[in-house]
Amino acid sequence: MRHLLYLSLFLLFACANDAPTTTAPPAALPNTQQRYTEPHRPQFHFTPPAAWMNDPNGMVYLDGEYHLFYQHYPDSTVWGPMHWGHAVSPDLVHWEHLPIALYPDSLGYIFSGSAVVDRQNTSGFGEVGQPPLIAVFTHHDPVGERAGRNDFQYQSIAYSLDKGRTWTKYAGNPVIPNTKAIRDFRDPKVIWDTARKEWLMVFAAKDRVQFWTSPDLKAWTFASDFGDDYGTHAGVWECPDIFPIQVEGSSEQQWVLLSSINPGGPNGGSATQYFVGNWNGKRFTLDPTFARDVRNERAVWLDYGRDNYAGVTWSDAPDDRRIFMGWMSNWDYAQVVPTKTWRSAMTLPRTLRLHRTDAGYRLCSEPVKELDRLRGASVAMSKRTLADTLDLRLQLSEALPLLEAELLIELPEQPTTFSVVLSNDAGDRYRIGYRSVDNAYFSDRRAAGDKRFSEKFAADVHVAPREARTKTVPLHLFFDVSSAELFSGAEVAVTDVFFPKQPFDRVQLVVEGAPVQLLQADFYPLESIWR
Ligand code: FRU
Repeated sequence: MRHLLYLSLFLLFACANDAPTTTAPPAALPNTQQRYTEPHRPQFHFTPPAAWMNDPNGMVYLDGEYHLFYQHYPDSTVWGPMHWGHAVSPDLVHWEHLPIALYPDSLGYIFSGSAVVDRQNTSGFGEVGQPPLIAVFTHHDPVGERAGRNDFQYQSIAYSLDKGRTWTKYAGNPVIPNTKAIRDFRDPKVIWDTARKEWLMVFAAKDRVQFWTSPDLKAWTFASDFGDDYGTHAGVWECPDIFPIQVEGSSEQQWVLLSSINPGGPNGGSATQYFVGNWNGKRFTLDPTFARDVRNERAVWLDYGRDNYAGVTWSDAPDDRRIFMGWMSNWDYAQVVPTKTWRSAMTLPRTLRLHRTDAGYRLCSEPVKELDRLRGASVAMSKRTLADTLDLRLQLSEALPLLEAELLIELPEQPTTFSVVLSNDAGDRYRIGYRSVDNAYFSDRRAAGDKRFSEKFAADVHVAPREARTKTVPLHLFFDVSSAELFSGAEVAVTDVFFPKQPFDRVQLVVEGAPVQLLQADFYPLESIWR
């Protein structure tokens, strides 16, 4: 019984884990088979072997490998001098940890950024037929910061000629100095602009973004900025991304600009807003219909949960897929969550698609299809009416706490609330679902376990307004040991973490209000990616 195994491992580590929270850097890469059993350790989400992690960085695909770099402080489980940790995956699901890729240097810490394959060797760092990988990142100079200067962040590059295993920093760094002394001046994301045959960089500058262009990744020219008049400015903008994308079901192309913001998210703290428009080589201009949605401090959000931040997309992903991954945490409490040997996970990798809905252009997240590989034998339920509580403990006890569910419900005329409820014998209870009273999805972790570490962690129910008005509501759910992700077809995503006192081992479908038709219900136990 898998949940018993988790429970015993949990108790074992809960007792053995009074060690100090600071973790020394591992001498050799740890054997993940032996680790990854600590309390709250995600089983099918990426986490570092040990110590602190925040934003995903440098995501790029090359020769059968998806690279994932990440903000990493190997000497502690809280934020500190930033390095780029590194892992690779053949399938976006199973990860192999590699040694740290970039270390702080005399120009500063290595903050967030991106990586590209320089196919035509525009940089001259590689050779024809042997394209270099180029990492583009922010150097953050802590000395300048402490001295009260404002120009302590600037953009730099490094290159690798051996598929990301070793890196050389460019001698001419920084490639974009901070001549105007803008305090927040960071997180470059670079793409190859195929129409204009040049590199395009977007990065965050205070509460907007700047665009720069380059022929060779070394010499950059300022093009324009964006964001003054649109979106929300309740916090600093961080980790932008820009890419062209085809509108689903048409040959129309739009450009999407992602921009994380902290604080100011729809349910508090860190979150990611986005914009739909056009890049003409000089400026980003909003689509006129989308402009209406983001005027007067309004935003359109990529995810309404509290735990999807600083996410960007992979460069060069095969088949033109636009694959996104975010940091599954929130600066409101990231550094105090109750994990001991490591801190933070990434979200599941998601395919982004742009739909034209009745409400306008909407960017939708779907879990990547490769996740199907983790599925065990499905448990399907026949179509039925649900009037109160349906306990699925017997059918799904083998699966928990790792579970995927694909549900389709049909709403009655009268008000109702439908939830999937996870619980355990310690009295913890997590609810996620849909309520018709305000046509919204919700995620409620207020009673889902440990929350004493931060007053901001579980103060409210998180709400995700649903724009569609159809009577059928899809809910595609992924539950890991300490997180839930909700995808709803062409609608919203909701990502939340939680910390139950012991693993959830019970699942119920609960209807409060008028009965609901369950049109489809498929459940899948999921395998751990670390075993
Ligand atoms: C976002 C962020 C980035 C920065 C990095 C530092 O979470 O604040 O703006 O580059 O983290 O670790």
